[in-house]
Amino acid sequence: MTDEERNSLKENLVEEVLNSGVPEHVAMIMDGNGRWAKDRGFTRIRGHQAGARNVKRLVQLADDLGIRHITLYAFSIENWARPWLEVSALMRLILAYIIRERNELHKKGVRFRFLGRISELSPRIIEEAQRSTELMAKNTGITLNLCINYGGRSEIVDAIKKIIIVGIPPEKITEEIISQYLYVPDLPDPDLIIRTSGEMRISNFLLWQCAYSELVISAKYWPDFDEIEFLKSLRVFQLRERRFGKTSEQIISSEG
Ligand code: IPE
Ligand code: IPE
Ligand code: MG
Repeated sequence: MTDEERNSLKENLVEEVLNSGVPEHVAMIMDGNGRWAKDRGFTRIRGHQAGARNVKRLVQLADDLGIRHITLYAFSIENWARPWLEVSALMRLILAYIIRERNELHKKGVRFRFLGRISELSPRIIEEAQRSTELMAKNTGITLNLCINYGGRSEIVDAIKKIIIVGIPPEKITEEIISQYLYVPDLPDPDLIIRTSGEMRISNFLLWQCAYSELVISAKYWPDFDEIEFLKSLRVFQLRERRFGKTSEQIISSEG
């Protein structure tokens, strides 16, 4: 495809997406950096570098489309089990991303938040994450939620601990209360979760919040998941019928 053809495809997809109701919250499992690198004879670390470079254009596009929240799974609790060289490279990339993008994201009015057991990270990452969160706290543009040292089960465990510490009695515990004690309390549940690299599993991501999310799996590895692939995934989502337990007839009559 020539650049001109790609641009025209992109423009058409943007128009289609904008005409069909943009999701409020899109979450992404950025998978396949290792296989992308292996296919090219590169080290896994080069795959992660390419993956990190891919984030910017997708956040920009999400913002342009009017998506309100974008959540990126950058490092899971289980990822600590990888070789130490890879773990430290990932931590360096995450730190570099936070520092490098801060001013530009702030200028664009982005809010930056972090989900995960952040206190277990290195003092440098904790400090830079806090600086970004505080700097951008009052911004009103898209919210970028970065999941680092994140696990869906640990998020629920941590919420239960907080609920016990503040002394909420059992009869007062509702689904809303649990939602309020998650890492980012006012984050709406994701409408759409995209996973790249063809894997069809949730890998401990947003376990509480994914109850009624639509899942779209892209065969592309994360570094190749470009704006056109993102727009195509949004179109797949828009063509789905979300029923929330009801019948299709009920959904159609409520729309009419
Ligand atoms: C996703 O790519 C990045 C992280 C999990 C941090 P992977 O590193 O999992 O890539 P594959 O799955 O090995 O191809
Ligand atoms: C999920 O990818 C975690 C992130 C993208 C950060 P993994 O590559 O770690 O997931 P599994 O191990 O294949 O399930
Ligand atoms: Mg993987």
